[in-house]
Amino acid sequence: MAIAIVLVLLLLGSILFHFLSPWQLTPLASNWGSIDDTIDITLWVTGFVFVAVNLFMAWAIVRYRYRSDRRAEYEPENKTLEWWLMGVTTVGIAALLAPGLFVWGRYVTVPDEAHEVEIVGQQWHWGFRFPGKDGAFGRVDTRLLSGENPFGMDAADPAGLDDVLIHGSRVLLPVDRPVKALLRSRDVLHNFQVVQFRAKMDLVPGQLSYLWLTPTRTGEFEILCAELCGIGHFAMRGMVEVVEPAAFEQWLAAQPTYASILARPEPDAAKGRTLYAPCAACHGTEGQGNAQMNAPRLAGQDAWYLIRQLAYFKSGVRGAHADDTHGQQMRAFASMLVDRAAMADLAAYIETFPVPPPVISVDGNPQRGARVWRNCAACHGNEGQGIQATQAPRLAGIDDWYLQRQLDNFRRGIRGRHPDDAYGWQMTEMAKLVRGEDATRDLIAHINMLALAASRPADGATELAHRSD
Ligand code: CUA
Repeated sequence: MAIAIVLVLLLLGSILFHFLSPWQLTPLASNWGSIDDTIDITLWVTGFVFVAVNLFMAWAIVRYRYRSDRRAEYEPENKTLEWWLMGVTTVGIAALLAPGLFVWGRYVTVPDEAHEVEIVGQQWHWGFRFPGKDGAFGRVDTRLLSGENPFGMDAADPAGLDDVLIHGSRVLLPVDRPVKALLRSRDVLHNFQVVQFRAKMDLVPGQLSYLWLTPTRTGEFEILCAELCGIGHFAMRGMVEVVEPAAFEQWLAAQPTYASILARPEPDAAKGRTLYAPCAACHGTEGQGNAQMNAPRLAGQDAWYLIRQLAYFKSGVRGAHADDTHGQQMRAFASMLVDRAAMADLAAYIETFPVPPPVISVDGNPQRGARVWRNCAACHGNEGQGIQATQAPRLAGIDDWYLQRQLDNFRRGIRGRHPDDAYGWQMTEMAKLVRGEDATRDLIAHINMLALAASRPADGATELAHRSD
């Protein structure tokens, strides 16, 4: 009897929870209301079965409970009951599956007027390519993929020259215009999902998959990777902003084309030398850094990262937070650089600086730090050398006090919260993995150890040579 009451209470609780729960489908933002309808049908069919089976169980427990004067009946066959069960199950399964087939038929039939965007996934961010004025995508080849060529563009194909390349996790789409999204992966399985669009699809290495949709309202929607794709899977997010067509065209025209990237002049370190003069006051004449001036070491850092940060400072993506006093200082200096070419010249000059041995000022337990470091190494490299493909800068050899402060800034949202700072946003998530002051010091102690190991490879080599004697 008690079990029957518990069953009925569980049933009532489940039903109440379903209707009163705050976790409902997010408001729809695309043409795929029919996907919501199939979810509703599934819920009603499975919900009916759930209620019926539980009520039947409760009834059977009460009706056929043990009594000493009763014996169970043995009935191995009941044709009528079996026909009923088969019939009802068939209708239930057909009701579950048939509407989905009609929706799927529409889902794989792209309307002719759809415009195209290619979405490229990689561990752990997104990139976007538009076909440009000719409406055709240029040829790509996985063998051409590199840090400088993240889309694997083939320079020999003229159709690719006007392709618009967006190497960042934010994209705009025009409202009320059907769009076909071609999906490809650079490495492993990913899945493109925007919950408000309802549409989602796998990105499969070696193949081009697609989905289509019509955004039906303007707004910002988060892109999620919905396929477990490695240690940084949870941080593989992006943003799609649905805007009026005019705003979309304006934005698209301001994005770099492949031709404009190819036409970038070779960075000139000699010009960069002149540009570096104001930096030297804080960062030192050879970019060695100065803790008293809150200026981190620049020597040893990669040019691609320096260029990105300078551009971020100049545009206010970085350093605009009210609590980021040192960032604000940097904004003033970065705004002196007129364009990207000037930033590239400056970064090229900084790359010529000799790399002095690391200065250690943070104390911690490197063994304990090694455990957290595994998460960082996935993007920044096992030796903390930085990896351009994952847009993760060098950490080994960068001033430890600076790393400590930046981790803290990421954690507190002083850095990385700007909507255009896709990688910084990722870091605000990753920084939460480092819990507390001690864990931060341990992690930085480990990075220091990596820096020390890298700064004397010659010693290590001779040691090994002695041992093999
Ligand atoms: Cu990409 Cu999960």
